[in-house]
Amino acid sequence: MKSELPVQILKTIREMQEVSEKFRCEAKKIAVVPTMGYLHNGHMSLIERASSLADIVITTIFVNPTQFGPNEDFTRYPRDFEHDKVVAHTAGSDIIFYPDAEEIYPTGFSSIVEVEGASNILEGAFRPKHFKGVTTIVVKLLNITKPHIAVFGQKDAQQAFLIRKMVRDLNFDVDIIIAPIVREADGLAMSSRNMYLNETERKNALVLFRSLQHAAERIRQGERSIALLRKEMLNIIQSGAPTQIDYIAFVNPATFSETEHLNQPEILVALAVRFGTTRLIDNSLIPIVP
Ligand code: PAF
Repeated sequence: MKSELPVQILKTIREMQEVSEKFRCEAKKIAVVPTMGYLHNGHMSLIERASSLADIVITTIFVNPTQFGPNEDFTRYPRDFEHDKVVAHTAGSDIIFYPDAEEIYPTGFSSIVEVEGASNILEGAFRPKHFKGVTTIVVKLLNITKPHIAVFGQKDAQQAFLIRKMVRDLNFDVDIIIAPIVREADGLAMSSRNMYLNETERKNALVLFRSLQHAAERIRQGERSIALLRKEMLNIIQSGAPTQIDYIAFVNPATFSETEHLNQPEILVALAVRFGTTRLIDNSLIPIVP
């Protein structure tokens, strides 16, 4: 925790840009943690990481409508700003940027930032336009908060890859830090969407982590057949009564392309599975020791 002062809440772009500019003039290092709110321990770990790297930590809270599809959960996405204020401050945020939708997308807004290629597979295939929404809002948040560092979570592995790529391709002067997944004691990856799960679904969803652990163990033991590993993971996931398995993907983390070979230094195993009406994602970066 950083200070006893209450966290400063800014709602307009102009105020946020002025405050960041002032800190930059004072040679303060600024880190931003972009979030959609309903903060949990996973977000806290991102804010703590930001706090360990910078003088000023800005947490942005904005449920970004453009990254949700028409039949997705934008309207019911959980929101609790009073709780978020406490969590953000406790974890080390100095400032919360908490704009209204009209501030971010005024009438006439029509610009899009898109990373071609890797935006269209896996999450992008199941959630068309999702990553256009993500990369566009992230660019806006970087321009608004003017950070030296931006911290994102590995839980959204494809998002993390695309943001890194976008920042590199477009020469943004910001360091992107990707912080590890934070899990509940029983292994469920922390997510604001976990609150949608009923008791049975919550228990069933543990198959995600179990299947990833299984893959890691089998690869460590020397198994190199992705077809076999996928089949074994499928069996584990199916034992959790999923309503739909969107994908079990083996991805080369350097290129974010799916691969059928385990001949690179590490493999990203990524999952998207529905339990009832709740769609969960999870992943694990597994070393491949020759
Ligand atoms: O990861 C999220 O919470 C969102 O996708 C982000 C990066 C805050 C953009 O809305």
